[in-house]
Amino acid sequence: MTPAAGAGAGATVIGGISELVTNDPRLGDGSELGTVLDAAMVVDGGQVIWAGPEAQAPAADRRVDLGGHAVIPGFVDSHAHLVFAGDRAAEFAARMAGYPYSAGGIASTVAATRAATDAELFHRAAGLVHEMRSAGTTTVEIKSGYGLTTDDESRSLRVAGRLTPETTFLGAHVVPVEYEGRRDDYVDLVRTEMVDACAPHARWVDVFCDRGAFDADEARAVLEAGMARGLLPRLHGNQLAHGPGVQLAVALSAASVDHCTHLDAADVEALAGAAATTVATLLPGAEFSTRARYPDARALIDAGVVVAIATDCNPGSSYTSSMPFCLAVAVRDMGMTPGEALWSATAGGARALRRSDVGALAVGCRADFAVLDAPSYVHLAYRPGVALVSGTWLGGEPSP
Ligand code: NIG
Ligand code: FE
Repeated sequence: MTPAAGAGAGATVIGGISELVTNDPRLGDGSELGTVLDAAMVVDGGQVIWAGPEAQAPAADRRVDLGGHAVIPGFVDSHAHLVFAGDRAAEFAARMAGYPYSAGGIASTVAATRAATDAELFHRAAGLVHEMRSAGTTTVEIKSGYGLTTDDESRSLRVAGRLTPETTFLGAHVVPVEYEGRRDDYVDLVRTEMVDACAPHARWVDVFCDRGAFDADEARAVLEAGMARGLLPRLHGNQLAHGPGVQLAVALSAASVDHCTHLDAADVEALAGAAATTVATLLPGAEFSTRARYPDARALIDAGVVVAIATDCNPGSSYTSSMPFCLAVAVRDMGMTPGEALWSATAGGARALRRSDVGALAVGCRADFAVLDAPSYVHLAYRPGVALVSGTWLGGEPSP
């Protein structure tokens, strides 16, 4: 990159970056990660206006020196269930003693969530977002799904909307206990009155299409009702057993199908198809915490599928808010390289949310990034469990 002329008034040079991952293959080493050594970024109006070798950085009014740390795009956690109350530690302990995970445990969180006040729900969700920020996450998607009445789902989405624009209506999480034996009535409620009340507060519509939750016809009915009201589809599928989730997601051009643990060759082929726009979002925390088999990330990537990594943060199957943890597990147990896992946790998450302004530090992107107390991003997987994120910046400013 050629030296640029001086940047405009108000711009800031952020230098002293030992290794900058931009996710822009036009920069630096030309790889997907677009890694630049001894780098700087220039930020103005909350956006990256220049990135490259520090020696070529344009002058600006202000300079910040990061003192020789690695910088990565902020993590994009494209799948989280943060609006809930209660605790399921006993269920986790029982699983670790040999009991299996099933979709039924969700009912206990539903009861606690319905009994909580709006303030309690907000306080809990905001605390989890704060944990995420401390671990380098700058964009998060938040689902409803523990209310399962029209009022409780819409208030869950209002709580979520105070924390992120990426809100997802998941009224079809499971059939609540009061509808036992009347599942058709519940699906009818979700796809009419409930989605009408929730659509103004959501960007996305999601369904848990799996064993013990909803089948393909039910999932399609709910997703199409959401789409008719302007919501964009995404889907939980193929977590607990092989099922129709992936094929349905591709058929509806969903932005993402999440979990993807039990896939057959036709599923991989559908996701890899030239016209496919559906990202496979893998959630290593769920397999870790349910002691289940991990999805085969290697097979998906080798087939050409776009893969994202997210936390699935929820009180039942994956109570972690840490993208670095999920990234380390993906590298250790899912066959991903450290570079692939970082891309999936940043640019991949952005693709899963159909966002081009986050997940990269290319010119024009939001200056949302994490500073690592490490010389290279590889340390995220090399030093599992260590809090390596020493600073998270949003729109070019350090986040409190
Ligand atoms: O993504 N799979 C469905 N929903 C959550 C689990 C929710 C729960 O157990 O409370 C998940 O893993
Ligand atoms: Fe989930």
